[in-house]
Amino acid sequence: KIQGLAKTPPMGWNSWNKFACDVSEIMIREEADAMAASGLKEAGYQYIVIDDCWQVTRDSLGFIVPDPQRFPSGIKALADYVHSKGLKFGIYSCAGDKTCAGRPAGRGHEYQDALMYAKWGVDYLKYDWCNTGKMNAEEAYSTMRDALFAAGRPIVFSLCEWGNNKPWLWGAAVGHLWRTTGDIYNCFDCKKNNGNWFANGVLQILDMQNGLRKFAGPDHWNDPDMLEVGNGMPANEDRAHFTMWCILAAPLIAGNDLRNMSPETKAILTNKEAIAINQDTLGIQGFKFVSKDSVETWMKPLCGGKWAVCVLNRSKSYRSVDLDWKFMSVTDSLSQREFNTSKEIFKIKDIWQNKEGGDTRKPLKAVIPAHDVLCLKLYRKE
Ligand code: DGJ
Repeated sequence: KIQGLAKTPPMGWNSWNKFACDVSEIMIREEADAMAASGLKEAGYQYIVIDDCWQVTRDSLGFIVPDPQRFPSGIKALADYVHSKGLKFGIYSCAGDKTCAGRPAGRGHEYQDALMYAKWGVDYLKYDWCNTGKMNAEEAYSTMRDALFAAGRPIVFSLCEWGNNKPWLWGAAVGHLWRTTGDIYNCFDCKKNNGNWFANGVLQILDMQNGLRKFAGPDHWNDPDMLEVGNGMPANEDRAHFTMWCILAAPLIAGNDLRNMSPETKAILTNKEAIAINQDTLGIQGFKFVSKDSVETWMKPLCGGKWAVCVLNRSKSYRSVDLDWKFMSVTDSLSQREFNTSKEIFKIKDIWQNKEGGDTRKPLKAVIPAHDVLCLKLYRKE
């Protein structure tokens, strides 16, 4: 694969969570306009990715054909448009015979498609795992990696295998990110039964990340699926969802309609400090420090000796918390970083209140509403 394309988790937007198959060039252009105009681009979001259903068939020579009704100007023109906004352009295909929505997919056409993507100016490819029969996942994704490499254009390669073939064990050599789970469901604490598979709410997906942090790092990220911020959960749940994805060093791929965001949604998606936690250049995924009474304290080592400490209230009622720093010493074997406030005093910034104040010499008491978070940046005292 081409290195250096995802030194920090990719940030962008994808059509699936909000629009599913209802995609068109007009809508994608408008989303690109909105990303550029709304402050998301400034906050670091970069990729505009069309998910499933842009393609309808292959021509007599086997070239993939976009839906002529929905993409009458063609994909190249759309990529050019997205680039003209100072953004990058992403597309979707699937390793099997057909995509999950039954459209033509990549199997047997990997090199032909990769050349076409390069010609169109594609910067990001999400590659799904439907209709793959007995295919070997590592082999199939490696074939597409080699095809993209041969095509010569830098293209971020996003493996969408859902975790059954443990992509964290082999994905680093193949792609820049890999899905760790099945699909996210727009719900904080529930599952959706889809017959032969479940879609998972935010907390369910979070719990499926256990044990995976050691596999992530620059250019090879765990992907707990795209964001549901702005798709209908209340602001507290969206905030908790976004915060945890930041702590997990997850790709931040918005999945809402950027053309009409509420001020709350925009404030969540563009919170500079939360994004800085996610995009930190150390590239170390956070970890759960302690869990008690449905309250989880997560920590993430950050560059320059900083730490993020975020407390998630999973319960349906408020929780009073008392962060007594002197009992929170820990050495993180992955980053080799020690957190010990008897050796080092940190200043504290509450990133959602956008308020600095206090330091780690005194315990911090707070009340966290149901399904909400307290998220702190701890930084060195000068
Ligand atoms: C399954 C993936 O996990 C989703 O994110 C989405 O890409 C759909 N397939 C599209 O069919």
